[in-house]
Amino acid sequence: MTTTLYTDISSLVTNDVQLELGLLGELNDAAFIEQNGYIKWVGSAKEAPDADQRVSLEGKAVIPGFVDSHAHLLFAGDREKEFAARMNGEQYSSGGIMNTVRATRAATDEELDAGIADRAIEMYRSGITTFETKSGYGLTVQDEARSLAIAIEHTEDVTFLGAHVIPTEYKDNPDGYVDLVTGEMLEACLPVSKWIDVFCDEGAFDYDQSKAILEAGIAAGLQPRIHANQLTAGRGVELAVELGCASADHLTHVTAKDLELLAGSETVATLLPGAEFSTKSNYPDVQRFLTAGITVALATDCNPGSSYTTSMPFCIAVAVREMNFSIEQALWSATMGGARALRNQEIGAIAVGKTADFVVLNAPSYRHLAYRPGVDLVLETVISGTSIYRSNK
Ligand code: NIG
Ligand code: FE
Repeated sequence: MTTTLYTDISSLVTNDVQLELGLLGELNDAAFIEQNGYIKWVGSAKEAPDADQRVSLEGKAVIPGFVDSHAHLLFAGDREKEFAARMNGEQYSSGGIMNTVRATRAATDEELDAGIADRAIEMYRSGITTFETKSGYGLTVQDEARSLAIAIEHTEDVTFLGAHVIPTEYKDNPDGYVDLVTGEMLEACLPVSKWIDVFCDEGAFDYDQSKAILEAGIAAGLQPRIHANQLTAGRGVELAVELGCASADHLTHVTAKDLELLAGSETVATLLPGAEFSTKSNYPDVQRFLTAGITVALATDCNPGSSYTTSMPFCIAVAVREMNFSIEQALWSATMGGARALRNQEIGAIAVGKTADFVVLNAPSYRHLAYRPGVDLVLETVISGTSIYRSNK
């Protein structure tokens, strides 16, 4: 198989701990070799071995592809009026989800597929090479199953979120809806799902309902993750740790006890700055998590209600400015942190044996991701050694 040498890289973020070069394993004047979709060699440009092809990156920076471990890309319509009202002082509530549910149910399969395809392209343009996506805007057996069947054409990391909110038609019978989610709906969604998620919060599902739903999913072979502590400091983190969830996501409101629980667990804390931004909520301070020794991921939470962005660089810039991340911590969380949240050891680093997923930046170093907020710095996004997006700059 052809070997390709990428060289003349001013700053190469490897995320390789074995290099003992700080959190990001940053190499300067670097090069790496890709073969058959994997990284074969990484080192100094001067010491690079021969390869079949040579690509000069002309002094640009290269980082591992972003891993977006939390997104809701399968929906129809938008909720710009709700966003505008919030910017004028309205409060976010889970109730708005039903507006997207109505639009999604009314859409054709083709419309839903075109929507997720557009958003996937936006993600590649922002340097995301792996993304997770959830159902949760169908909330009938048929609409959840078709959402997931469409989503799996775009990513392997597909999450069944039938427990997003109690739909209007079950308003007076929430237990009936939990029975549906854990019964017929789970069965219909199982063949096309890898993960199961629940929105455990005020206005959504309580601890007992969330536990019953996640346990049913686990028993059927799905891996759990959870929306926890977004609107209130409830019992979502407790449940995440109890059930060994891969991640507990949002965590806008966490107590000292929650941090203690997460610190003693395998559960990744996924922070979603786009959600606080778009709901005008207070941002959590990441240092509370990091000093406790908790693994932190950063993700977009792209959805039409609370975070309509596909831009990981935007999330990094906000995380640095508002959540007390160093630039290094934010970049690690958006790459290796996301890989940990998806329990995927093949991605998140530019190191020998990892998948060749990487991004070339129009900048001399990764620091520009936060230093130049809102500026499109992605020159090229490569997945498994294949260029999926190239800017015409
Ligand atoms: O991650 N928290 C629940 N779900 C979404 C919001 C969905 C919506 O408002 O449409 C979230 O923020
Ligand atoms: Fe979400």
